[in-house]
Amino acid sequence: MNAPVPMNSHVPVLLDEVVAALDAAPGETHVDGTFGAGGYTRAILSKGVARVFAFDRDPEAIQCGETLAASSGGRLTLVPERFSRMRQALSDRGVEAVDGVTLDIGVSSMQLDRPERGFSFQADGPLDMRMSQDGESAADFLNDAGEGEIADVIFQYGEEPKSRRIARAIVAGRPIESTGQLADIVRKATGHKPGAKKDPATRTFQAIRIHINDELGELVGGLAAAEQVLAPGGRLAVVTFHSLEDRIVKRFLKERSGALPAGSRHLPAANETGPEPTFEAVARPVRAGETEIAANPRARSATLRAARRTSAPSWTSPKRGSPQ
Ligand SMILES: C[S@@+](CC[C@H](N)C(=O)[O-])C[C@H]1O[C@@H](n2cnc3c(N)ncnc32)[C@H](O)[C@@H]1O
Repeated sequence: MNAPVPMNSHVPVLLDEVVAALDAAPGETHVDGTFGAGGYTRAILSKGVARVFAFDRDPEAIQCGETLAASSGGRLTLVPERFSRMRQALSDRGVEAVDGVTLDIGVSSMQLDRPERGFSFQADGPLDMRMSQDGESAADFLNDAGEGEIADVIFQYGEEPKSRRIARAIVAGRPIESTGQLADIVRKATGHKPGAKKDPATRTFQAIRIHINDELGELVGGLAAAEQVLAPGGRLAVVTFHSLEDRIVKRFLKERSGALPAGSRHLPAANETGPEPTFEAVARPVRAGETEIAANPRARSATLRAARRTSAPSWTSPKRGSPQ
């Protein structure tokens, strides 16, 4: 049996900045798309909002949130669902519009720090990496996929220049069952010197995790869903941890606020009625200060982007205002 999940071991990043961007007020309804250990949700509840719908695709995170939900006086609803399905999940619960949506992209410390979840190359564990704990695991992928596909994943999502060499070593080293085994293969393939500053397994692990959980697809879907569910004046706050994700959020907000031509292939498809801006001109990105980074090194790579919804119809929903 797995060890109990240590609740609250995740320190929320850019918490004050996210709370300021969301500007939650009594009586409002908010979505926390990435509940994790509930750091953002607690802060939003403390503003006296009427309801928070907190999503997480990880059943363990949802389970850990049950005590908080029970003590919330009916204000917190936990939703064991991916945030890309936010619109439907809210609609199923009788909610068509909300005042705030926040997304804190990536994995939690509870996921990373528990070797049995298979996210970490620093401790040995089964090669799993599935946030939702279902579907194809990292081991399934690496043991079944062709060398070219593995190399592409490592190159695209890890921005790893030695992706081909690593993929070749992975295929030669099959079957791969543990995080330690994969980390060793990557270190050998890249000629890693023990004691070097950055472990070369970092990029490969990130890449495989992003692929297994379709994290970029989820982000694109989550942004489109947020655009659909936010009421006029509603606030969106998104925290990302690497440039691939931040680029998607940046382009989405630039496009939707009219600062970029519509139609990027990386973004949710626009229908033909656009493009009236769905978000107001976007504020500059916010990054963690030295004090937060010193206390929580994870904050070093975090970027917050926030924006306020206009009253224009969503670009991706034929239901809201489009003649289609
Ligand atoms: C960085 S943590 C969030 C931490 C949270 N803000 C807090 O203060 O505790 C990310 C969480 O989002 C969840 N998650 C990641 N992608 C998701 C998705 N597409 N849909 C729902 N939950 C997701 C992960 O399972 C993880 O628990």
